[in-house]
Amino acid sequence: MAKAQSSEHGEWSSGLAFVLAATGSAVGLGNLWGFPYKAGENGGATFVLIYLLCIALVGLPVMVAEITLGRRGKRSPVNSIRSIAGDERQSSRWRFVGVVGIAAGVLILSFYSVVGGWTLYYIGQAVVGAFEGIGSDASSAIFADLKKNAAVIITCHTLFMLILYGIVVAGVRKGLQRAVTLLMPLLFAILILLVGYSMAATGAFGQALEFLFKFKTADLSGTVIFEAMGQAFFSLSLGMGAIMVYGAYLPKSESIPKTTGWIVGMDTLVALLAGLAIFPIVFSVGKEPASGFGLVFETLPIVFGKIPLGYFLGVTFFVLLSVAAVTSGISLLEPATSYFTERGGSRSLAAGGVAFVIWLAGLPSALTWNLLSDVHVVGERGIFGSVLLLANEVMLPVGGLLVAIFAGWFVRGSTLARELETHQGQWLFMTWLITLRFVAPLGIAMVLGFKLWGAFAG
Ligand code: PHE
Repeated sequence: MAKAQSSEHGEWSSGLAFVLAATGSAVGLGNLWGFPYKAGENGGATFVLIYLLCIALVGLPVMVAEITLGRRGKRSPVNSIRSIAGDERQSSRWRFVGVVGIAAGVLILSFYSVVGGWTLYYIGQAVVGAFEGIGSDASSAIFADLKKNAAVIITCHTLFMLILYGIVVAGVRKGLQRAVTLLMPLLFAILILLVGYSMAATGAFGQALEFLFKFKTADLSGTVIFEAMGQAFFSLSLGMGAIMVYGAYLPKSESIPKTTGWIVGMDTLVALLAGLAIFPIVFSVGKEPASGFGLVFETLPIVFGKIPLGYFLGVTFFVLLSVAAVTSGISLLEPATSYFTERGGSRSLAAGGVAFVIWLAGLPSALTWNLLSDVHVVGERGIFGSVLLLANEVMLPVGGLLVAIFAGWFVRGSTLARELETHQGQWLFMTWLITLRFVAPLGIAMVLGFKLWGAFAG
């Protein structure tokens, strides 16, 4: 990508193109699959509140920092950070922040592709009419059967990685932008339709509202905070260089704070809409909110099987979910691909090598509920859950912490202000810098520290 990039830095033809690509990265399985089930497992409103706080106090400042560093460095995260560190007369070891990011991206995509494969499988189920008239038990059975079937899960995981690889190699970024422009509004529309249905027809909308927004101090715990922070990083694509490398392709003329506002706003909105669509169904069919990571797959088909035009809506929804997963998956590949391309590989070789390693790394995750169901890695967690824990809840926040410290403390304020096209006395800039220097790093360090301490203490 580096070579192509230096001649094509304007590849995001405008700020809008960047917002679309970055939103394509942010909005994905994290919003529609991850957020509802994590909220369900962690007491609802308490999780949601902490999640929103993490977005405002940590996610926003770190995203501005990542885009700023990316646009200043104009290369893969490893080399962007190395060159900025050089300019600022800091140690070139800071580049390892980029290396940690690449590792996190590989780990995340390894399980992300398994879930991406499920969305492909669900397109097939929707097409053959498997949701027709099903109730809660039948719907859960479809998901349970899928989990048990190693061959199908691996086939879908393989298919998902092949699609990603194909898109990255074909270099159809323009096509992808068009897809996001078209499909993102459609995804919004379907979500709003589903929320409308949940509001009007489930009789459980009030219960869902209360679950999602009525904060209860009793639910607050270290684990909830830890999970909510990991979810915030994961959902915003932060802490591993994806947004940084996209920032490297952002034209100089665009306002970073404004674009960040759009990306964060849309990502948060989609997550909240997903919650508002899913929980009324959960309550109306008598499911437990904490029934785990199958939540979106087990609930929405019940509705598609029941409402007018449900067949058509079901197919469309799972196609859109797959597209959202693909646009996020591409950004998960990008830091590693751009890095290996800069080291002299061709783009297709770099992407192919990385994709193959990720595919291999995903196999144990794919086998978590069948051949390897006896394997427990972290506590009760199987392989899939353990990789997810390590990548989302530990590596991303650590990546974000390092970005905040590097940008906040080791890059001169004047450099940052110049890249942000503002001056250091400006109030928005000062607010950002203070949050980046103090609030975000202290917050992340405290959450991780308490969790680690808790793990060792018992
Ligand atoms: N933000 C994406 C999602 O919500 C996942 C992702 C994480 C993408 C990290 C890139 C980097 O699905």
